Amino acid sequence: MSILPEAVAAGLYLFAAVCFILALKGLSSPKTARRGNAIGAFGALVAVITVFLSVDFEGSRLWLALLALGVGSAIAVPAARKIAMTDMPQLVALLNGVGGGAAAVVGLIELAEWQGQAEFLATASTAFAVLIGSLSFAGSIVTFLKLQGLMTAKPVIMPGAAVLMVVTMVASAAVAVLVAFTGNIGLGLVLCLLGLVSGVMMVLPVGGADVPIVISLLNAFTGLAVAASGFAMPNTLLLVAGTLVGASGGILTLAMANGMGRSVLNILFGALKGGSTAGSTAESNRPVRRATPDDVATSLAYAGKVVVVPGYGLAVAQAQHVVQELVNSLRARGVDAFYGIHPVAGRMPGHMNVLLAEANVPYDLLVEADDVNSQIPSTDIVLVVGANDVVNPAARDDPKSSIYGMPIINADHAGQVFFLKRSMRPGFAGIENELLFNPKTQLLFGDAKESLSAVVAALKEV
Ligand code: TAP
Repeated sequence: MSILPEAVAAGLYLFAAVCFILALKGLSSPKTARRGNAIGAFGALVAVITVFLSVDFEGSRLWLALLALGVGSAIAVPAARKIAMTDMPQLVALLNGVGGGAAAVVGLIELAEWQGQAEFLATASTAFAVLIGSLSFAGSIVTFLKLQGLMTAKPVIMPGAAVLMVVTMVASAAVAVLVAFTGNIGLGLVLCLLGLVSGVMMVLPVGGADVPIVISLLNAFTGLAVAASGFAMPNTLLLVAGTLVGASGGILTLAMANGMGRSVLNILFGALKGGSTAGSTAESNRPVRRATPDDVATSLAYAGKVVVVPGYGLAVAQAQHVVQELVNSLRARGVDAFYGIHPVAGRMPGHMNVLLAEANVPYDLLVEADDVNSQIPSTDIVLVVGANDVVNPAARDDPKSSIYGMPIINADHAGQVFFLKRSMRPGFAGIENELLFNPKTQLLFGDAKESLSAVVAALKEV
């Protein structure tokens, strides 16, 4: 027997939906992200409790539902607590896949229960949920395997992949229409299978650097699948929450693609045309100018304005605290030192913001790429810490480069550039960076944390 009257449950669902919207608003700025996250989690808690108090669970089903909740929490809580920041994209992929899979399974159960007796709109939206949910599940599992290093991160292109993809798409659309009209569960299972194959085929040709963007796209798909099940069930909260995930995931996908100067279609199907972005990891052996920690410290100490450009290597080295120590010491000396944050620095949206927030970096020291570029001509030193592609001038100047069109931070327009990196290996795009060989550039080789600690120590002696 349900405890809550229907109207109260509807009111609580509305409250949860408002929490989700406020959460998204909060997540749009590093200042309010933590609060936004908490508001979203609270909304989800209210929604789950409302389900348990308003749904008429028959007999042992309540215990089954509680058991599922217990098992899910026992797996998710320690996993989320232990995960390293650099492994976050694969965790998101996995969680997203589970969401899509759940939407597909709920759709199949609905089809089995309705036995072809439901209205067309219900079966049509369920067909959509089964297809897109299973596609998102399979695609997300492949992205997880790629990012976790359990399979190659390079694009996998099977012979005849493009033709097979078109055939699967046409077959999926045809079977989805049949399911919509008949509500047949057997066809529903075939549709689920086609969705799984489509998901695998969609992600296999995507190269390592583009995988996080596909995760965001699959996240949007999962949202749409959940919204479709909400429509079919019907459940207003699933409809609203799914639509929010679909819309925000779609916007994020476009923002990430724009940040890399690519189209979403090129990211998905570029490799099939031979336009893969997966580059080489070969080290260049051209001569470069080396610097010692003392050289870097002395130059920084006498500079007027310093822009620190952090990248993926800062996360690998976990050097966020020591870089902030350096910036603090420079500011204490009267140097105008701050950070230039590129939208796709690192490996996930907002990666540098999250990382630097851990070191309590004040938000007004984080300046976005567009704003920082207008200040670079008057900057004495750009200190590039574990970044590479985001300062590569080829993206701006070389139409033949695979990253041409990606907005960059114009580090080469500053008076002097220091790179902190371990070797001459390229960044994620796998292409050489001319800025490393520019006469105004010097390299301090080593792990970013160790190099920065040495520079901080040397600065005390200047
Ligand atoms: P990258 O171009 O990948 O360069 C990272 C640099 O860090 C490398 O040069 C590497 O050189 C250095 N490094 C690695 N570990 C280090 C350590 N422990 N200490 C010091 N240096 C270290 O990074 P980026 O400039 O941040 O650019 C991000 C790339 O990822 C772009 O190509 C972007 O398109 C792609 N991407 C980003 C996203 C998002 S949303 N952020 C999503 C998809 C793709 P060494 O190996 O020589 O040390």
